[in-house]
Amino acid sequence: MPSLSIAVIGAGNIAQQHLPVLRDLPECNLDSIVDTNAKTLADSADRFSIPNRYATVDDLLDARRPDAVFVLVSVLRVAEVVTRFLSEKIPTFTEKPAGLYTHQTHALRDLALETDTPAMVGVNRRFYSTLQEGRRKLLAEGPIRSVTIDAHEDIERLRDWDKFPDEVIARWSAANGIHALDLLRFFGGDVATVDSSQQVVEGPMPDGVSATIEFENGAHGRAAMDWFAPGDHRFEVRTEGATLTSNRGYGTVLLRRRGQDPEELCLTDIDREYKAGFYQQDQTFLRSVLDSVPFPDPACTLDDALKTMEMIDLICGNEDG
Ligand SMILES: NC(=O)c1ccc[n+]([C@@H]2O[C@H](COP(=O)([O-])OP(=O)(O)OC[C@H]3O[C@@H](n4cnc5c(N)ncnc54)[C@H](O)[C@@H]3O)[C@@H](O)[C@H]2O)c1
Repeated sequence: MPSLSIAVIGAGNIAQQHLPVLRDLPECNLDSIVDTNAKTLADSADRFSIPNRYATVDDLLDARRPDAVFVLVSVLRVAEVVTRFLSEKIPTFTEKPAGLYTHQTHALRDLALETDTPAMVGVNRRFYSTLQEGRRKLLAEGPIRSVTIDAHEDIERLRDWDKFPDEVIARWSAANGIHALDLLRFFGGDVATVDSSQQVVEGPMPDGVSATIEFENGAHGRAAMDWFAPGDHRFEVRTEGATLTSNRGYGTVLLRRRGQDPEELCLTDIDREYKAGFYQQDQTFLRSVLDSVPFPDPACTLDDALKTMEMIDLICGNEDG
């Protein structure tokens, strides 16, 4: 099978979930890795037997031109690193968010268009086998009429953890809330209007949010986010007569149809072996680049990511930096 020479940029936390997938995918020849931290670089390169190791993106590009890259760098560095590769017309997969600020996602979207370079954003919940099967079976019952998303989490733990600067915490809705809020568009499609009310409990950003959303197809959405006490991400989606509900962190979903026994949908073996959604997500990127075809549903393009970021800003009352 033909494969692509791949460079992974950023060898930290989430790279440890992508690297096993990239090692095992037949479409991938994982030959280069970059990290500005020497120990992180050496540990990952040794663990995954990656021959070419570089301290910077400049060093990589001076030495070789990968067929495509996976950008897995710290959230504040994503926009500049992705800009570098799109400017070189190198197909780029980037972890979410594609820029902490919406204007950065906008600029990346424009650059990808201008340079005609494929770019995909990792919002891996779209690729969970449970969500894909659940959405397919729900749509077989009729059009989706309502999508309800709870994006609660206790961000107290972040403040005691020196990993995330205040700037990232202030836009946590884009940095991490995107996992849950993007599902509004996964189930409901493009958004027509957002009406939101926000309060500041612990602050400094709005951290108690209730929003109603009208989708272009006429469906109705609701989003609730409380960040000042323990809480979880959840969803509930309805057609007329059927309800799809997340369970145990989306590890299973429950489909209930009027007059029938509930049906529980479970993750596939691949989604249990690797971080859920990653194998299919990363393979979708590689296959589309190999075959020079557009990314298929449910892949998130930069245009798609921009729409999600704009929706999040309206829901959460975000300043855009
Ligand atoms: N999909 C998910 O479930 C998920 C989960 C966690 C993080 N993420 C995303 O993954 C990305 C990385 O997060 P993380 O938790 O792995 O962060 P991390 O801090 O653990 O790792 C990032 C690595 O990037 C390196 N780095 C920073 N700037 C660099 C540069 N210019 N060139 C080369 N290397 C550089 C750092 O040295 C570090 O090793 C973020 O965008 C984050 O939002 C996604």
